[in-house]
Amino acid sequence: MTTPKRYLVTSALPYANGLKHIGHLAGAYIPADIYVRYLKAQLRDVVFVCGSDEHGTAIPIQAMKEGTTAQAIIDKYHPIIEQNFKDLGIHFDIYHRTSSPLHHETAQEFFTVLNDNGDLEIKTSEQYFDEATQTFLADRFIKGTCPNCSYDNAFGDQCEKCGKSLSPDELINPVSTLSGNVPVKKETSHWYLPLNKHEDFLREWVLKEHKNDWRVNVVGQVKSWVDGGLQPRAVTRDLDWGIQVPVKNAVGKVLYVWFDAPIGYISATKQWALNHGKDWKPYWYENDTQLVHFIGKDNIVFHAIIFPVMLKLHGNILPANVPSNEFMNLEGDKMSTSRGWSIEMDDYINDWIKKENGGESMADVLRYYLTAIAPETKDSEFTWKGFQDACNSELVSVFGNYINRTFVLMHKLCNGKVPPFHNDLIDDLDKQLIQDIGNTKLKVETLLEGYKFREAQFEVIDLARKANQYMQKKEPWILAKHLPESPSNQHLIDNALHLCLQLTANLAILINPFLPFTAKKMLHMMKVVEKLLEWQNAGRVDLLKVGYSLREPQLLFRKIEDEEIAHQLEKLTIKKVQVEENKSVEVEQESKNVLKPEIVFDDFGKIDLRIGTITAAEKVEKADKLLKLEVDLGFEKRTIVSGIAMHFKPEELVGQQVTVVCNLAPRKMRGIESNGMILLAEDKSGKLHFLHTNGMIDAGSTIS
Ligand code: 2FM
Ligand code: ZN
Repeated sequence: MTTPKRYLVTSALPYANGLKHIGHLAGAYIPADIYVRYLKAQLRDVVFVCGSDEHGTAIPIQAMKEGTTAQAIIDKYHPIIEQNFKDLGIHFDIYHRTSSPLHHETAQEFFTVLNDNGDLEIKTSEQYFDEATQTFLADRFIKGTCPNCSYDNAFGDQCEKCGKSLSPDELINPVSTLSGNVPVKKETSHWYLPLNKHEDFLREWVLKEHKNDWRVNVVGQVKSWVDGGLQPRAVTRDLDWGIQVPVKNAVGKVLYVWFDAPIGYISATKQWALNHGKDWKPYWYENDTQLVHFIGKDNIVFHAIIFPVMLKLHGNILPANVPSNEFMNLEGDKMSTSRGWSIEMDDYINDWIKKENGGESMADVLRYYLTAIAPETKDSEFTWKGFQDACNSELVSVFGNYINRTFVLMHKLCNGKVPPFHNDLIDDLDKQLIQDIGNTKLKVETLLEGYKFREAQFEVIDLARKANQYMQKKEPWILAKHLPESPSNQHLIDNALHLCLQLTANLAILINPFLPFTAKKMLHMMKVVEKLLEWQNAGRVDLLKVGYSLREPQLLFRKIEDEEIAHQLEKLTIKKVQVEENKSVEVEQESKNVLKPEIVFDDFGKIDLRIGTITAAEKVEKADKLLKLEVDLGFEKRTIVSGIAMHFKPEELVGQQVTVVCNLAPRKMRGIESNGMILLAEDKSGKLHFLHTNGMIDAGSTIS
């Protein structure tokens, strides 16, 4: 295969609706970053794009939860996520936003081309409509009872309790989350992408052409979709948050988020080109560009079926590969932010990176562990114990230890300078080590070009393991002990440490795509510039000049203690409990947000509301929650029993003015007849408050 002329690498655009967890990081970001760092070390022309996905219902839903606007949500989360990626060493050439005008324009142009070419179809269907708010309801705005598990808060697209995918039609007793009303069915028209017309293309392109070079999970998913028969997919929605459909009279219609988001890769490339005075077009139109989309498995259908069909119709190049990972579980359960079972990037950064000096090495520890357990072919599992073991027994004991020993010995036995290599003394161990370096380079590049990041990283650590064994066999410290009687030992010491140092330089190059902060530290110790990290230097054993003095060693990694792990495990459990508690408050709150069914004026007119003054209050025996109140209504005094004993002491109530429903039918509570009801306001935390009248209104005044 000829080397592509340029590369365009993308990572799935995360929704800017909240913090992202380390499962996301392992899926679409770390592997892409490794790949790009490797390509850049190869001096290839490569652009790495990503950014925030800022449309779709995920954003307004989060806005409702946080009691703010969709715009405020994306403005809040976009910079946090962008910074989180930076702190973890994910180096995009651009981190763009789909809310940008350039993206809106790009997506609209894309739609217009397809529409003008007759590649889209308009279809009319019946969809749920909320008459109170005059809006068609996106799946996420409809709730009801799950037909599968009877959970009564299931969404129109999925039940969060049993996980079943649903369509709004399947929900029992659907209600609009906007108004609480029962939605009605109403006709609406939308543009559809007729995927059914492209089945042959997909069979040929994915199932034949890429049968062997794409991951099994990706080819398998495409096959099952195509075999099941593809249906036309709606590419527009009735929504007020998104990119306007660029057609006259398409009022209130926006592009479906999954239509506009992948076009975000194109607009990001355009913005990058603008920023750097480059031409973006070759990256999306020339066949000698290698386009690679890194994604998680829930995005396969969009990147291996829908977006390629869109690209083909629009005249762009197709992806050369769509490396998709499976899922990463956490301590025996599915990772999920909404269920509180996750480790957010932001939390990891605060706990491990920001707290200590030189904390960037902890970014590399996470990168290392997530790559070592990358779910490339099947789901994998993050455990804090596994994280600790990977750090302590591989990074500290193998890699870090090797570099440290080499530097300490070089300072002790070679005056802190790169010793010469005496060719006449070369032995089989030296030859083997030199060969191992060359072989590792070749293996790592083949594995990286084949998107096998886990194995590639393993090879680098394995080389460090071999290097430790080499040093163990050479024993320069023993040779040094016998120097007085055998001065020729110095040459043997020189040779061992010369090779160990050349190997150190090679390890810096090979580890750089995986652990960039570590590679930088190594450069500092070797007093060399970044140019050393160019991939073509790997395999050479003349990288460090003889006689060149090097710095003192720095510890590359620190040991992780048991207490730190215990603390993280405890934190995880506490978070889960907190999220569950918050959820039940949210559900309660949501039910309050939902308005009661509409009433007519006459219904309201039946209620007699008056101002009353509480003149006496006492506890009701054997009833924790009840208070017996005497209320003066001006024209008469009433006894009212009220369930507010947990909120107020009786003495706090005397003299307070309250609103009273005074034509409520009497009812007996704990043997006391209650004649009416007092009204109080309840805040979000459940606390009750008086609606103050400042005692200025006469008892008995009416409220209407
Ligand atoms: O699944 C997600 O988080 C989507 N926001 C991914 C979009 S990828 C691309 F199409 F932009
Ligand atoms: Zn369910």
